[in-house]
Amino acid sequence: MANSVIHMNNIVKTYEMGEEKVDVLKGVSIDINEGEFVCILGPSGSGKSTLMNIIGCIDTLSHGEYYLDNENITTSNEDKLTEIRNKRIGFIFQKFNLLSKYDALYNVALPLLTRGRRYKDVVDEAKNALREVGLEDRMNHKPNELSGGQQQRVAIARALVGNPDILLADEPTGNLDSKSGEDVIHLFKELNKRGHTIVLITHDMNVAKNAGRIISIKDGLID
Ligand SMILES: Nc1ncnc2c1ncn2[C@@H]1O[C@H](COP(=O)(O)OP(=O)(O)OP(=O)(O)O)[C@@H](O)[C@H]1O
Ligand SMILES: [Mg+2]
Repeated sequence: MANSVIHMNNIVKTYEMGEEKVDVLKGVSIDINEGEFVCILGPSGSGKSTLMNIIGCIDTLSHGEYYLDNENITTSNEDKLTEIRNKRIGFIFQKFNLLSKYDALYNVALPLLTRGRRYKDVVDEAKNALREVGLEDRMNHKPNELSGGQQQRVAIARALVGNPDILLADEPTGNLDSKSGEDVIHLFKELNKRGHTIVLITHDMNVAKNAGRIISIKDGLID
């Protein structure tokens, strides 16, 4: 049987705004196995980013259970969640979130440096990650010397460098023209073929259709 990476059972997320309580996720259950490429597809306001933040341990759930790699992390404390965010999840955002002062190589090395490792010890790993996204020849370019699609590939290399259990991407093509967006999706497909587990969040069916499986979310519920 395939190894479960994400098992979520009946997740509820409630925001309290003064007296009022709003259920944004209303009982969401999902299972994602190692090696899958899954898209979470839904319209604006359906709860995609809320779900991504819970998957990525950026936010906590109100009710339900979350198992990551068969470990129950539902009630983990902040230290544990920080460790999961840093080591087990590779985040990719719509706006790339690269540091403009630094070149591609340093941006990719950063997650390893924040773990307390020294630059000379991590530089080869950072180069390998850039090689994985086809950008080793641009490693000394700063973000403003790269196209949008190249910047997103640097961000993908940065997500890959620590060898996470899952790549978690929220609208990764949202800031790209259609050609660069297609290139980035093609890269995700390649990375998936090489064994990486990918969870990609989008409102765009044309993006979602590239995944091995689509999970549709609407108004806080899986369709
Ligand atoms: N911190 C918060 N407090 C209160 N309500 C929130 C909060 N964050 C999100 N919401 C509400 O939860 C719902 C889902 O928001 P979410 O950001 O998850 O949607 P989304 O599917 O990612 O939308 P988009 O495609 O526009 O990014 C929205 O109605 C939003 O107003
Ligand atoms: Mg969103």
